[in-house]
Amino acid sequence: MAKKQKFAKDSAVTMTEMVLPNDTNTLNNLMGGRLMHWMDIVSAIAAQKHSNRVVVTASVDNISFRKPIKLGNVVSLKAQVTRAFSSSMEVFIEVTAEDIPANKRYTCNSAFFTFVAVDQSGRPIDVPEVVPETEEEKEHYAGALRRRQLRLVLAKRMKPAEATELKALFENLEPIKED
Ligand SMILES: CC(C)(COP(=O)(O)OP(=O)(O)OC[C@H]1O[C@@H](n2cnc3c(N)ncnc32)[C@H](O)[C@@H]1OP(=O)(O)O)[C@@H](O)C(=O)NCCC(=O)NCCS
Repeated sequence: MAKKQKFAKDSAVTMTEMVLPNDTNTLNNLMGGRLMHWMDIVSAIAAQKHSNRVVVTASVDNISFRKPIKLGNVVSLKAQVTRAFSSSMEVFIEVTAEDIPANKRYTCNSAFFTFVAVDQSGRPIDVPEVVPETEEEKEHYAGALRRRQLRLVLAKRMKPAEATELKALFENLEPIKED
């Protein structure tokens, strides 16, 4: 039977938080752990919206913190499912911060989280396919396969030799020119 399909945009979620004193380190910047907690929540909601299931975090890709987020800033976290496989879903999260009194807004970081839809006993269960529509959604959808292979190889769940999309990426790279 053909799998159910859902548009990528139907999983979109935006969460807004204000950085309060209890969220900060001694430099009055938002703590990385608090931001990751918010990222986990917003992306879990996106995965739930796509699957209409209970979801668990299976993995988190590399997160780097490009700019500190200051006490009093308003943080917006946007999450959307990029692609679904059998039971797993990749979610893209983009974080922006805003200093409203100064009228300044900046992008802080982005990341990919992977969630697995589970039944009441915690067993993985199939989810609908994702239908990307915009150029950005199509780009994320196309890249999701190679990112999945990379994380499964790193988690020792896939043999590097089986990661064909990933290998193709390196095989097609232009050699670096020496000066
Ligand atoms: C994620 C979990 C449900 C996978 O269960 P499992 O018995 O290993 O199931 P499977 O081997 O059938 O894998 C299920 C899916 O998870 C994906 N998966 C498992 N580990 C993964 C990882 N490290 N990164 C990305 N995807 C992963 C598999 O690729 C598979 O995806 P697919 O169905 O789309 O092909 C299980 O490991 C789990 O419950 N982990 C704890 C989750 C949790 O508590 N998270 C909160 C952190 S405290």
